[in-house]
Amino acid sequence: MARIDPWAKKQFDDYSRLMEEFGIQRFDASGLPDPPALFRRGIVFGHRGFERVRAAIEGRKPFAVLTGLMPSGPMHIGNKMVMDQVMYFQSLGADVFIAVADIEAYATRGVSFERAEKVAVENYILNYIALGLKPCQIYFQSRRRAVKDLGYILGKKVNWSAMKAIYGFSDDTNMAHVFSPLVQVGDVLHVQLEEYGGPRPTVVPVGVDQDPHIRLTRDIAHAHRLFNVGTARDGRFGVFVKGGPAGELLSRAEGVLRDLGHTKLDVIANYNVIYVDDASPGDEVRIEDALIDAEREHSRYIFVPPCATFHRFMTGLTGGKMSSSVPESAVFLNDEPEVGARKVRAAKTGGRVSAEEQRRLGGVPEECTVFEMFAYLLVDDDRELEEIRSACRQGTLLCGACKRRASEAVAEFLKGLQSRREEARDQVKEYLVEGGA
Ligand code: TRP
Ligand code: SF4
Repeated sequence: MARIDPWAKKQFDDYSRLMEEFGIQRFDASGLPDPPALFRRGIVFGHRGFERVRAAIEGRKPFAVLTGLMPSGPMHIGNKMVMDQVMYFQSLGADVFIAVADIEAYATRGVSFERAEKVAVENYILNYIALGLKPCQIYFQSRRRAVKDLGYILGKKVNWSAMKAIYGFSDDTNMAHVFSPLVQVGDVLHVQLEEYGGPRPTVVPVGVDQDPHIRLTRDIAHAHRLFNVGTARDGRFGVFVKGGPAGELLSRAEGVLRDLGHTKLDVIANYNVIYVDDASPGDEVRIEDALIDAEREHSRYIFVPPCATFHRFMTGLTGGKMSSSVPESAVFLNDEPEVGARKVRAAKTGGRVSAEEQRRLGGVPEECTVFEMFAYLLVDDDRELEEIRSACRQGTLLCGACKRRASEAVAEFLKGLQSRREEARDQVKEYLVEGGA
């Protein structure tokens, strides 16, 4: 079985294969209010379990968004994609949480906690505010006790063999690294503890490299539920008690099912099951969510399965992976405007060897990192983007002029950020709740 390594320095390209191999669903933004460019353009291409958040949006019910930042290198324009989604969900009413992954950076990249704090504030948090993020809870993994405790406690439901299978850990993986995915599980699920707003749908916008953590989190959340809802081996649909006081839970479940309008209930107490003959797999989510209150009376660790959206990665300007360790591959949000512009002017394009050939054959926007800059960052208007695409293809737009336009737009973007970052400085404390604890 192929494996996704969240800590690898590799470039992802074949997204449809990834979806097939790992069972990631295709993300479809239609029906969402005013979807942002990343959604309209298929840059956010996949999801796991997004239906629950969609339903919360449609029903104007509470939901949360949580994501994390890795303070091991400066924020670049590729890292902005997650923030665009966070701000979109925030505008729809989501409670926003952002984890500074200082434990993960320490455990997997050897970054000190002091350094992580400096990078988090200077390179990420100030930019988030400058980009338009409204007050929310940004916290450090190392300082939020509920997160670490939860990671430890929930770790009871996963064993070493599963961790090795998911992450490829070996005998010489250090134990802080081994534990860091559980801290991330703590990040995602702690927002559903009573103190942080209680159980509710939660969306985690991430790059697809984070999918192993998402799968682990969903599995662990599932393992803590006291009911199983679904189709038994004999083909009958039912609610099964798998933990906690069976008799009591069965009778609570019966009440819940009747409240939902189900009448064909066959309670078999000896087997801890209620068959629901007037329900089908389509009712699974509705029933599962309705049972939560009953389960919470017996356990603090009952969660609505969190969901994730997955975005594609921007290609590095030099053609390989966009990486904070290769300065020329990325425009950093803290780059001087002129530096950012220069990187764009040097970027790899989908142009031809000569202007003459390009006029004749047209360029290839699909293989052009400058076109990606327009699509991901610089052009919000879809019609305008299509004009660039077709002018490139037809050979009426040449790379020199095109790069000039992109580099000017990048410089302007960076200049705007620069001044808004300075204004943001005294707002940081409104975001770092409890001193980041
Ligand atoms: N592992 C993430 C990364 O490498 C950072 C992260 C930490 C995170 N906690 C999280 C992402 C919770 C999403 C949700 O970028
Ligand atoms: Fe890329 Fe623009 Fe050149 Fe087309 S014209 S290949 S979009 S730089």
